[in-house]
Amino acid sequence: MKRVRKAVIPVAGLGTRFLPATKAMPKEMLTVVDRPVVQYAVDEAREAGIDHIVFVTGRNKHVIEDYFDVQPELIATLSRAGKTGELATLDLIQPPAGMMSFTRQQAPLGLGHAVWCARDIVGDEPFAVLLPDMVSFGERGCLAGAVELYDQTGGNVIAVEQCDPLETARYGIVGRGNAAGHGFAITGMVEKPNPAAAPSNYYINGRYVLQPEIFGILGRQERGAGNEIQLTDAMQQLLEDQDFFASPFEGRMFDCGSREGFIQANLAFALARDDIRDLVFEPISEMISLQKRRCAA
Ligand code: G1P
Repeated sequence: MKRVRKAVIPVAGLGTRFLPATKAMPKEMLTVVDRPVVQYAVDEAREAGIDHIVFVTGRNKHVIEDYFDVQPELIATLSRAGKTGELATLDLIQPPAGMMSFTRQQAPLGLGHAVWCARDIVGDEPFAVLLPDMVSFGERGCLAGAVELYDQTGGNVIAVEQCDPLETARYGIVGRGNAAGHGFAITGMVEKPNPAAAPSNYYINGRYVLQPEIFGILGRQERGAGNEIQLTDAMQQLLEDQDFFASPFEGRMFDCGSREGFIQANLAFALARDDIRDLVFEPISEMISLQKRRCAA
């Protein structure tokens, strides 16, 4: 069985849910505490053993490529000023040379189309997909659990969490079959079903391990929900030939493409950081108490 070495991170989306912040800046560069959202996805991929990342970008996203490049002027300035802490931070996030590839999705035709744009760089091997809007919060990253299950089961693995049964129309939903490792076999998948049509409340949370045969199906460019080329529809077709397993995530995902998810992520990560918790805990608690008193009045 081939090891999962490569990950695709689609970053071509326009971020319309977050205007005006995303008018001139990619949504993937919004910061959770002090690092851009996309950095969390890269760290999570590296933690899961990924050694090459393929970004599927679009127009106005070049700042993401610059962010992962070396900044010699900045390094020189920090060195002259003796700012060793800042230099160490830059060093920590610097990907090794050649670890990243960038390709463009030329038109916003859907997530399935974005993944398909990476086909030549991925080649004939299993690969991971991380949707960077979804920021993983927990003891270990969500993808590590999905890759662990893949190492036991082979086939394809999708990370899942449970959602409010009334909110299935916001996500891709999987059907639950027999137990497999720490997860279960998937019996079917539907993109954004109404609660009545949903096979369960296990939603696809934005982390996948897929076999390369998915590219052939995506290449047919069939449209699905929202008239987009949907990854979920292609996976449902691949399920006729290959096994799919669900890896329930023990932590939680924050949808940083939405205002509420983004604010919650900032609070959760700030409160979890030893260097920041004490600086923000009291002020946040006071703001919440004040708000509660206002609401009660
Ligand atoms: C995409 C996927 C969906 C998944 C969701 C997670 O939808 O198509 O299956 O549940 O991401 O965020 P989107 O949010 O792009 O509409």
